[in-house]
Amino acid sequence: MDRRKFSHLVACGAGSTIASLAAQAHSSQPQTNESQATGSAPKPKQLSAVVNQSPTAVEPVAVYEYEALARAALPRPTFEYISTGSADQVTVRENLAAYQRIHVVPPLLRGVTQPDLSTTALGEKISLPVILAPVAGQRMYHADGALAAARAAADAKTIMGISSSVLDSVEEVAQASTGPKWFQLYAPKDREIGKRLIQRAQRAGFRAIILTVDLGEWKDADRRNRFTLPREMMIKHLRDFGFVGNFEQMTHDELISFNASVWDMGMTWEIVDWLRDITRLPVLLKGVLRPDDAVRAVSKGVQGIVVSNHGGRRLDTMPATIDVVESIAQSVAGKVEIYLDGGIRRGTDVLKAIALGARAVLIGRPYVWALAAEGETGVKNVLELLRSELTNAMSACGCNNTAAISRDLITRSKLG
Ligand SMILES: Cc1cc2nc3c(=O)[nH]c(=O)nc-3n(C[C@H](O)[C@H](O)[C@H](O)COP(=O)(O)O)c2cc1C
Repeated sequence: MDRRKFSHLVACGAGSTIASLAAQAHSSQPQTNESQATGSAPKPKQLSAVVNQSPTAVEPVAVYEYEALARAALPRPTFEYISTGSADQVTVRENLAAYQRIHVVPPLLRGVTQPDLSTTALGEKISLPVILAPVAGQRMYHADGALAAARAAADAKTIMGISSSVLDSVEEVAQASTGPKWFQLYAPKDREIGKRLIQRAQRAGFRAIILTVDLGEWKDADRRNRFTLPREMMIKHLRDFGFVGNFEQMTHDELISFNASVWDMGMTWEIVDWLRDITRLPVLLKGVLRPDDAVRAVSKGVQGIVVSNHGGRRLDTMPATIDVVESIAQSVAGKVEIYLDGGIRRGTDVLKAIALGARAVLIGRPYVWALAAEGETGVKNVLELLRSELTNAMSACGCNNTAAISRDLITRSKLG
């Protein structure tokens, strides 16, 4: 591979490496946000007015409204880095559209008004079945980055998954909030560096390791924008992770090449054995889309599976996670906990995911849009919006608690 060709590529970590500049720009106009990508209804008129005047003049009443606020708050390449998906964005669209093909059929007169939304995730009690997914680069979206998001998660009494490319060290995030946190690892080729980082996360009080194995983002928008981390952030990211080098002496292109060269893009199942050998923390495998992989993960001793297509950022045309979660849940037959992410935007989406076998869901874009728009307050608000919507959905369905969310509450559209 000619590294010079990749010098302008996004470089937050292994999740966003390696896409060829040689690939020609997509012939159609860039689809710059999720609503354009998905063809979903345009934003209400009053919101665009609000966005133009003052992004925070009116509190958003639904998660999707934060997308427009983030667009107004961020440079376009950064907004597109967050919001767009891989190639033709089929999977991004599917992640949303698949929820609309699933209908809720609530039973009547169950007398539930104040359902208990709490659950446990790997033994940790959380107040709602919504967890913050690991998302890279959070200092690019807001000055307080992951520190603000971690405080918001703690305030909502839920878990935050911290990306190993988040741009704050595990110690910095641990200092910012005592709330429960899971650490997400992109495996470096140098396993000693990986081991030391896992040990640091453990010492800093992280309670589980998310091993992300669906690598390699392939996003036209980022190649078109030649999107990269700013130099100082790239250096901080490498140092935070534990890499050593004369980074200050390197050119920006050299830094990006260095970053692209250090991740293990050719992992095998051995990586799970390695991780289980070096830590006593529970391990979640993130990126599972097939029952056979789920069964293999269970046989390797993981404690949880995250059914994920990386928010449609990796290989385009992968299926919506909500369409595969039920078969995965059936294949592992309750032996480990199942989580799901991708396209969760409404309380009803959370209800559907649980009905199909997820213990809880993770959200990515919704909270980083809110982080960009309003910092910690925005992230809190996103969690509270989902909490209110799920309360409404569970009340309507007569579910006193999350264990009462059953398969018979939903049906798949005949048109789907
Ligand atoms: C900007 C951005 C950066 C991401 N970075 C990471 C990462 O560093 N590690 C990881 O495991 N997943 C990463 N993801 C994927 C998320 O963890 C999650 O799978 C996805 O965002 C869920 O889809 P949603 O955005 O529709 O909620 C990232 C997603 C976004 C949007």
